[in-house]
Amino acid sequence: MAQRLKKAVIPAAGFGTRLLPATKAQPKEMLPIVDRPAIQYVVEEAIAAHLPDILIITGKGKHAIEDHFDRNFELEEELGKSDKREALEEIREIIRKARLHYTRQNELLGLGDAIRYARDHVDKESFAVLLGDTLLRPSGSCLKELVAIHERTGDAVLAVEEVPADKVDRYGILEIESQTRDREFKVKRIIEKPSVEEAPSRLAAAGRYILLPEIFEILDTVQPGKNNEIQLTDALQILAQQGRLHAYQFEGKRYDVGNKTDYVLTTLEYALDRPDLPGIREAVHEILKGK
Ligand code: UTP
Repeated sequence: MAQRLKKAVIPAAGFGTRLLPATKAQPKEMLPIVDRPAIQYVVEEAIAAHLPDILIITGKGKHAIEDHFDRNFELEEELGKSDKREALEEIREIIRKARLHYTRQNELLGLGDAIRYARDHVDKESFAVLLGDTLLRPSGSCLKELVAIHERTGDAVLAVEEVPADKVDRYGILEIESQTRDREFKVKRIIEKPSVEEAPSRLAAAGRYILLPEIFEILDTVQPGKNNEIQLTDALQILAQQGRLHAYQFEGKRYDVGNKTDYVLTTLEYALDRPDLPGIREAVHEILKGK
């Protein structure tokens, strides 16, 4: 039986080059999905999964993230008791519920390298990783399942979703050793961004992980891989070889907001589900009629 997990790490230091020029002077994790920055949904997801100790890995040009999760007394004063002040209440709620910590990745050497910066903070405990540019709905339920699997097995776990063949080259793709339970698998192999021909399945890493403290030693041995970056996938592959990696095919949907098409589609889908923003569906139909 593994120790109760408390800590979440959100890597958010990447350049976000696929969203340039929008990301030239602002973090991609701060781009709005309707009226909240993407990373707010991610932080709320960690809180919903009872992981209130959150370390955000930031870097150059990412100050806006820290400012967002802080109070702005001048603005609060200015808004007085108006309805608009309500919009800030959810930030105050996050500040009340979570303990947010920050550290900076000095050189952008990839996701695996970013995670290495969590070493001192997580100490010798297992921890959750939530990518700062990936949203999951429903929020929190996938992470709770991953935690439960980790607590039952003591192993590392990652969330996966089935993707169409033309998207396997964007993600870490799994080869399954065996199905252990409903939606649960033991992983034989994980390969970063394979071609369709190379891909052993269509099960793709979905940006949520439970990692073991041993991951830091493994990451220290990993050589730069695809795109000359230290790939988390390569470290996970070592755990898979040791028979210590499980996958959970979550019920729900992943929204990858780090590329232009998915960013627009995510914003639209979140907007369509907002009862306080009526008329969008009809407006989209009208726009499509004109195309
Ligand atoms: P991506 O793989 O999307 O990389 O990162 P990127 O550099 O941000 O984006 P592009 O490819 O240039 O458009 C996935 C997550 O890992 C973080 C990112 O901030 C994002 O949340 N990341 C990536 C880091 O924290 N450090 C890195 O060195 C790379």
